[in-house]
Amino acid sequence: MRLVVKIKDKINSSDHLVIITTGNNFLNEYSFSVLEKNFIKDSIKNKEKLISINQYKRWIFICIPDKGKDKYQQQENFRKAAYKLYAVLKTKKITSVTISDIKKNIQNSISFAEGLALSNYQFLKYFKNAKEKESKLQEIFIQLPKSADSSIEKLNAVIEAVYTARNLVNEPSNFLTATQLAKEAKEFCVSAGCRVEIFEKKRIEALKMGGLLAVNKGSVDPPTFTTIEWKPAKSKNKKPIILVGKGLVFDTGGLSLKSTAGMDAMKSDMGGAAAVIGTMYAVAKAKLPVHIIGLIPSTDNRPGVNAYAPQDVIKMHNGLMVEVLNTDAEGRLILADALSYAKQFNPELVIDLATLTGAATVATGQHGIVAMGTASDKFFDALDKSGYNVYERIVRFPLWDEYKEYIKSDIADIKNVGNREAGAITAGKFLECFTKYPWIHLDIAGSAYLDYQTHYRGKAGSGIGVRLLFDFFRNYTVGKFNSKYF
Ligand code: BES
Ligand code: ZN
Ligand code: ZN
Repeated sequence: MRLVVKIKDKINSSDHLVIITTGNNFLNEYSFSVLEKNFIKDSIKNKEKLISINQYKRWIFICIPDKGKDKYQQQENFRKAAYKLYAVLKTKKITSVTISDIKKNIQNSISFAEGLALSNYQFLKYFKNAKEKESKLQEIFIQLPKSADSSIEKLNAVIEAVYTARNLVNEPSNFLTATQLAKEAKEFCVSAGCRVEIFEKKRIEALKMGGLLAVNKGSVDPPTFTTIEWKPAKSKNKKPIILVGKGLVFDTGGLSLKSTAGMDAMKSDMGGAAAVIGTMYAVAKAKLPVHIIGLIPSTDNRPGVNAYAPQDVIKMHNGLMVEVLNTDAEGRLILADALSYAKQFNPELVIDLATLTGAATVATGQHGIVAMGTASDKFFDALDKSGYNVYERIVRFPLWDEYKEYIKSDIADIKNVGNREAGAITAGKFLECFTKYPWIHLDIAGSAYLDYQTHYRGKAGSGIGVRLLFDFFRNYTVGKFNSKYF
C-alpha cells in the first residue's frame, strides 16, 4: 500500500499521536494526566525508547531515538526509531498517525516520517491473499506549519520513487524482461513529466553497441536501451548531468556460469537501472531545476546456444576492441556502450550505478557504496555529504594508472577482467576507457539487494541510490555545492 505524508497544523484529540523527542521536556506541552506523566517519567528513567500510552480512543506513542554522535547519525536514528514504532503500529492495525516534534524541528519530523514510510514497504504482487497481508498504515501526518509543504512534497516523491525502485528489483526476470523494464521506466517516468525513448534491437545494432549485443547473444529476449530525460524550462546547468544504470534483468554468468548460490540474488542485477528510474522520477516529480538524462542498457545474460564465449573479441560502441575472458563480467560491457553513447550530450558529469562486482560487496558489505572516478573533488565531496545525509554512504576507491596493467590483453585493446586483486577497481578501470568527461562510478553490488532485514531499508530490493542522488541534485539546485561543509 502506498502511503502519503501530509501536513497538519492542529492535532485532534482522537488522532493517534507520535511524539518524537530527545529529552523529557515535553511533559507539559501535551495534556497528560498526572498518572500518565508519572508513567512516562518512570519509563524514561528505565531507559525505554518507545513508550505506549493507551487513551482508549487513541494511542500516544513517545519515541526517543538513540543519541547520534553527529547530526547525520542523529537523523538516521530518527529513521530507525520510526522502524521500531512501525512494528507496534502494525500489530495494532493503525491506519493513520500524527507525528509531533516538540521543537517543531522539520528535519527530525521528516526523517522520522521517512523511516516510517520506508518501513511500510511490502512486495505482495505474487501472493494470492495479498489483501489480507497488506499493511494498514496509509497516512502519516506531521504537525508542521504550511511553510513545510514543499519539503513534504519532495519527501512523498522520494518515497514513491524508492518504492518503485524496490518493486523493480524485487520483480523476477520471468516478468521483468529487458523489454518490460523499458516499459515500466517509460510509464513511471512519463507520469512525472520526463521524456522517454526506447531503442529496440534494430536501433541498438545500428548504433553498434557491441557490448550490449554480445551479452544479449545467449538470450531469447531482445535487449533494450532506454533514454529518460528531465529538461525543465529553467535549469541550473547548461550541460546535462547523465545517469547510467546497469539493467541486467538476470545474470546467470553466461557460459562462465555462476554457481547456484551465486545466482541466488541475480534478478537484482538491474539495481542500478532501478536507481536511475527512481531518481529521474523523483527529480521530475519535485520539479528540480536541473537537466538530467538517464540511460539504461538492458538485457539478461544467459548461456544460450548462441551465447558469447570466453576469448571472443568484440567491438564496442566507441570502436575499442575488447577480449572477453569471462562472460560473467558482463555489466561493464553494457555500461561501456552507454558511457560511450553519453559523450554526444557533452555532459557536465556522468554518474553510473551498477551492481558490478562481488569485490565491492566484499569491501563494504551492505553498508556502503564503492565509488571511484575522474570527476572533480567538488562532485565527490557533494556525493559524500549526501551519502551521510541519507545514510547511503559512499567510500572512494583509487583509479591509479597501475591498475590499467591488469586489463591489458594479448590480442585486443583491453580485456574484460583483471586478476584476483582489486576486482572493484579493475571494473572501474575498464569503464574509465569509455569516459571522456567528468565521471563517477558507483558500485552498489553490496547494498542493492539485502539478504536480511535490519531496519527501514527492508529485505531484498533496497532501492539504494535514489535517496542519495535526489539529495545530491537537491543540493545542486540550491547552490550548496562549493564547499565540503555546506
Ligand atoms: N552482477 C555481478 C556482480 C554481483 C555479485 C552483484 C554479487 C551483486 C552481488 C557481476 O556481473 C559479476 O558477475 N561480476 C563478477 C566479475 C568477475 C567475473 C570479474 C564478480 O564480481 O564475480
Ligand atoms: Zn556477471
Ligand atoms: Zn552482473
